[in-house]
Amino acid sequence: MLTEREIESCYLGQFIPVHYHHNMLMDQNRMHGFKMAINYAVRPGAKVLELGGGTGVLSWFAAAKADKVYCVEFNPDMVKEARKMLSMNPNGHKVEVVHADAFEYLPPEPVDVVICEMIHVAMLREKQVEVMESFKRRYLARFGGPLPLFLPEAVIMAVQPLQQEYDFEGFYAPIVQFQETTAVAPGTIEFAAPAVYSVLDFSQPTDTQIAWEGQFLIEKAGTLNAMRFITKNILAVINEESSTIDWLNQYMTLPLADPVAVRPGDLLQVRFQYRAGGSIPSLQAAIRADVVPAAMPQTAPRNVEFA
Ligand SMILES: C[S@@+](CC[C@H](N)C(=O)[O-])C[C@H]1O[C@@H](n2cnc3c(N)ncnc32)[C@H](O)[C@@H]1O
Repeated sequence: MLTEREIESCYLGQFIPVHYHHNMLMDQNRMHGFKMAINYAVRPGAKVLELGGGTGVLSWFAAAKADKVYCVEFNPDMVKEARKMLSMNPNGHKVEVVHADAFEYLPPEPVDVVICEMIHVAMLREKQVEVMESFKRRYLARFGGPLPLFLPEAVIMAVQPLQQEYDFEGFYAPIVQFQETTAVAPGTIEFAAPAVYSVLDFSQPTDTQIAWEGQFLIEKAGTLNAMRFITKNILAVINEESSTIDWLNQYMTLPLADPVAVRPGDLLQVRFQYRAGGSIPSLQAAIRADVVPAAMPQTAPRNVEFA
């Protein structure tokens, strides 16, 4: 019999099937960033915990220097896969794959570093923020301070108004899109620079409720019909160099239900709120965007709602 959380986890895609892990292993930005950050953050002889281990790859990066890595995974299929794959790699024996719920598990001893990659754009769907908060509370109660170093250390999230083409061989389909960050997206017009709407520092207590209200000054003419969500994970802060090792998630673009014409000088007022770990439709439903035309600042805003 599944618990309520297990049902929600399956529903929200927490139980990512094995074949999706291939995509994660193939994502060079993600893999390279984590490898560098883990290599920097994990000191020789360290104890490391990974929450949501999947194939065990990040635990394995840690095992290059750590004495012991606890790799916690909830999906029984992935527990088997991780054990199998780790047994095929040098240092794999240093990783103990634990079949447990990250919301409940605590390691048997204090650890130096906690790795957690339950990350989706805008901190939606996956339980990164809730898992980290739950862990910090339970860890402090069991072991006292200090808290381990968290990897990622922080996340910066931004939003940007767009015109987005939704023509697929003549078929008009305004649909949620995930776009590469390195290529220029065809059919996309950026109306203003992105605005940061949230910075979460995992070393501090983190609120799972995210809310923002802000304005954009429209720079180009076109049809406002989408909002892009940008998520940059600060995997590690390199103190010696005053720099960071980052991982930029794919952009997520949400279509507007009612596109509206804009022109330079218009003011776009945007507000939304959502719960970290919530669904993409919950964010879509919460977004309000009002355009105040440039020439008529005294007129009532035109209201735009997301699908
Ligand atoms: C985005 S994947 C990342 C996997 C791996 N860390 C990597 O980077 O390749 C997140 C993993 O967390 C696991 N997971 C989700 N909810 C969990 C929970 N409550 N407890 C433990 N693992 C969980 C999923 O099954 C999945 O394998």
